[in-house]
Amino acid sequence: MKTIAISVQKGGSGKTTTAANLAAAIAARGKRVLLIDNDPQSSLTLYCNLSQEKTITDVYHGNAAIQEIVQDWNGIDVVPADILLSQVENEIAERKDRRNILHSALAKASQYYDCCVIDTAPGLGLLTVNALMASDHVIIPMEPNPADIWGLELFLSTLNRIRKAKPGLTYKILLTSYNDRLKLHQTAKEAVERRNLDLYPVTIARNVRTAEAWGAHKPLLAYDPGNKNNIAYKTIAEMEMHE
Ligand SMILES: Nc1ncnc2c1ncn2[C@@H]1O[C@H](COP(=O)(O)OP(=O)(O)O)[C@@H](O)[C@H]1O
Ligand SMILES: [Mg+2]
Repeated sequence: MKTIAISVQKGGSGKTTTAANLAAAIAARGKRVLLIDNDPQSSLTLYCNLSQEKTITDVYHGNAAIQEIVQDWNGIDVVPADILLSQVENEIAERKDRRNILHSALAKASQYYDCCVIDTAPGLGLLTVNALMASDHVIIPMEPNPADIWGLELFLSTLNRIRKAKPGLTYKILLTSYNDRLKLHQTAKEAVERRNLDLYPVTIARNVRTAEAWGAHKPLLAYDPGNKNNIAYKTIAEMEMHE
């Protein structure tokens, strides 16, 4: 099972949208996909319209196995989150295994899936560290504007600390809400390229149908099959699943 975290500390950069739609694009390739909401704000859980009776909080508490609490969303097994997850960082802070709780829980489920996608909370706290420690690859969604590039530096320094403990952890930047007619976006893209950071060859465009799919609780692939963002999600799915 390949595990991919969608992560960057800034909110509103397209993490949850990327997690849901990439998971759908990987599932559309016939892969068995596990999708995890690791954010107390539970945006992914709302996107997928799931019950919050049993959540990832129970997994952190050791009260449930991932396999017991998954819910189906368009053929994908999803683990919901709830607001109580926000207390977990304090609760696990003194534990020796505090950085690897999610990793251990996923190890028990890994035989059932080809791929796991983790949506992470904004911020660089222990929940995000658990997601990164459990992952093989990180997708960093970023709006190409100067403030976000500054935030990216901060995130990369955290990521590089984690990579010292986990040298195999790879990452790539995905430009979201990209508009190639905007000088601001072009300039920001060039700034990222100049730093020799690894960028996906595709970008996610800002379009209202992508946001509407959320309200309809559907993957963009089902809500608006002709949407050009689907091509980007499919390309990333193909790249990450190495086919
Ligand atoms: N490509 C897009 N086009 C239009 N709206 C988008 C797009 N991506 C995300 N959004 C909207 O922007 C908001 C933030 O996106 P989200 O994926 O929740 O970011 P994050 O998880 O990083 O906070 C949401 O309301 C979402 O519907
Ligand atoms: Mg989110």
